[in-house]
Amino acid sequence: MIVAIDGPAASGKGTLARRIAADYALPHLDTGLLYRAVGAARLAAGGDLGDVSAAVAVARTLDLAKFTEEALKAGPVGEAASRVAAIPEVRSALLKLQQDFARQPGGAVLDGRDIGTVIAPDAEVKIFVTATPEARAERRLRELLDRGETVTFDDVLADIRRRDERDAGRGAAPLKQAPDAVVLDNTLLDKDQSWLVAVAIVERRRAETGT
Ligand code: DC
Repeated sequence: MIVAIDGPAASGKGTLARRIAADYALPHLDTGLLYRAVGAARLAAGGDLGDVSAAVAVARTLDLAKFTEEALKAGPVGEAASRVAAIPEVRSALLKLQQDFARQPGGAVLDGRDIGTVIAPDAEVKIFVTATPEARAERRLRELLDRGETVTFDDVLADIRRRDERDAGRGAAPLKQAPDAVVLDNTLLDKDQSWLVAVAIVERRRAETGT
């Protein structure tokens, strides 16, 4: 069974994907980490984030093991990831790795922006997780403050809106709901409630598809 979980920044799709993967004993790939790693490497090199050939070279030889999740989740890396993710050649360089992960025997859970539309259009389960920008900013703010970063709600909200616009407005594999995805709006739900809704969606699709 392939479970595709897509949604905008800080929608809680990563937490959901990890939990669903554990419940069904499936391997999980947070595909945002791939774009974050490319962005982090370009930031570390001090180069121009719009430099296509430099970003593509990083994507082609990407080794996620060289990055800690902590470093990849830092505030400025999200924005850098969104910039390099808009480069079609960077997306192509990361395509096979993601498709191979999705198609491994037994299935997998992947979360990102284009899993249900581009990476695994044949996924048995597609969930589009979303919440208002304000609710997402509130959650991301708490995360960043817990990590010791100095940020304000307004900064985080502006960052989320900018990323939403870029991720949804780009030509290459934009963030959008697959026509056959089930929407899970968790603006008014806590993590456990979101998870219960997601499990119900998975179970319904398992019954429908016989997986
Ligand atoms: O999910 P995230 O915030 O970790 O993702 C970081 C950025 O990577 C996001 O702004 C857009 C990009 N991304 C993408 O374009 N496609 C994916 N499948 C996953 C992430």
